[in-house]
Amino acid sequence: MAHRVCPPFIGYFLLNPLRRLIENPDRMFRGLVREGMTVLEPGCGMGYFTLPLARMVGASGRVVVVDIEPKMLAVLEKRATKAGLAERIERRLADVGGFKIADLAGKVDLAVAIHMVHEMPDQATFFAEIEKALSPGGKMLVIEPRGHVKQAEFGESLRIAKASGLVPLQEGSSVKARRLLLQKPAG
Ligand SMILES: C[S@@+](CC[C@H](N)C(=O)[O-])C[C@H]1O[C@@H](n2cnc3c(N)ncnc32)[C@H](O)[C@@H]1O
Repeated sequence: MAHRVCPPFIGYFLLNPLRRLIENPDRMFRGLVREGMTVLEPGCGMGYFTLPLARMVGASGRVVVVDIEPKMLAVLEKRATKAGLAERIERRLADVGGFKIADLAGKVDLAVAIHMVHEMPDQATFFAEIEKALSPGGKMLVIEPRGHVKQAEFGESLRIAKASGLVPLQEGSSVKARRLLLQKPAG
């Protein structure tokens, strides 16, 4: 599997407003996000999805973002401050050892991993960390780009996610992306 980390200049391209035509956050998160939720967004980049998520969870919710690239988090912070959403967004810098989210164990209602799973050098550790962070019944949305990630690779990610204890609820794909919705069993 390829795990080349997306360089920061790509982060700016990912903020292009025209992206909404293909990846509209309101449509993508419909039925998944409610006010007051704790959402975890690993590999958040410069926050194309983070700001809409922060609006959806409202003042009583929070979005915890984790990225390995400091520049991505720095731009995200500026954008969040400008939008008046910084207080709902907690930023964390990952390192090659992992996401440093042990303190979130059992507290996350929804994890959103968009166009980042194929960049993980060790998907078994990645899915295990997310599974631990999810509350019982909590969900994980995985979206991968069709161009970079072939069906066989996506199938391998699904196998690894299942091995970590997550249960697939829905699998699908569009012209541009492969999508998977997983759940941590409720009890
Ligand atoms: C293609 S970008 C997607 C960004 C964002 N999810 C979006 O769709 O706009 C992948 C992101 O994953 C981050 N990333 C790659 N490897 C990582 C790791 N080991 N831990 C945390 N973040 C990582 C990159 O820095 C980058 O911001």
